[in-house]
Amino acid sequence: MSKRIDVKDLDIFYGNFQAVKGVSMSIEPRSVTAFIGPSGCGKSTFLRTLNRMHEVIPGARVEGEVLIDGQNLYGKDVDPVDVRRQVGMVFQRPNPFPTMSIKENVLAGVRLNSKRLSSKAGDELAEKALRGANLWNEVKDRLDKPGSGLSGGQQQRLCIARAIAIQPEVILMDEPCSALDPISTLAIEDLINDLKTDYTVVIVTHNMQQAARVSDKTGFFNLEATGKPGELVEYDTTQTIFNNPAKKATEDYISGRFG
Ligand SMILES: Nc1ncnc2c1ncn2[C@@H]1O[C@H](COP(=O)(O)OP(=O)(O)O)[C@@H](O)[C@H]1O
Ligand SMILES: [Mg+2]
Repeated sequence: MSKRIDVKDLDIFYGNFQAVKGVSMSIEPRSVTAFIGPSGCGKSTFLRTLNRMHEVIPGARVEGEVLIDGQNLYGKDVDPVDVRRQVGMVFQRPNPFPTMSIKENVLAGVRLNSKRLSSKAGDELAEKALRGANLWNEVKDRLDKPGSGLSGGQQQRLCIARAIAIQPEVILMDEPCSALDPISTLAIEDLINDLKTDYTVVIVTHNMQQAARVSDKTGFFNLEATGKPGELVEYDTTQTIFNNPAKKATEDYISGRFG
């Protein structure tokens, strides 16, 4: 498990509108990478190209390459469904299926991939994923209760358990804490730190303290003006981005001068 990602000259479009321009970067396995930058600069758009979720929007397309352990996700014979199995995603708002039990929520992605599971295998997989998401102790006595009965922070960990249950190589998270209170946020940050022993984790966050706390590397995206495409301005160790950035725009952003 856990693979490297190499992005080469990626341009991203919504129809005729170019949302992101010329991104090249490499992401190491077993690490946490954070993307920061002002709203509208293309962080979410770029993240969704890493598992081919971008192209589900009509007219949306990319030019360039995204390699996972050397294999181009956008190669001719690659099935996007396989890509999304390898590269899981967690969204901004926790989105458990409300009427489904906690256990069935964890197994939902696996069942979508039409894997038949014995009841024992299902129980074991659910426990493993819930332990991996630091949620097991809180829910083990109510696995058959609806997922919607959990707190926001628990629901987000449930969604992370659902992503883990598919046994991906990479986990993408788009502002996973933006709907959570500070305590739940810290629980997710602890979990992100644990996840990097097994996965390549990429997180978008508008919270710079969070990027500084959880990530090994940080990419700063920005755009010259509204209507212009977003670009990766600077990408380096989190330490460097926050303490000694090379570009003035990065320094202005991290010191709160805009955004
Ligand atoms: N579904 C869409 N259709 C057309 N344009 C979009 C769509 N989603 C995002 N955009 C545009 O792409 C640009 C980047 O947006 P987004 O990736 O959401 O930025 P961020 O996540 O950094 O706030 C923005 O100009 C936004 O309006
Ligand atoms: Mg976004």
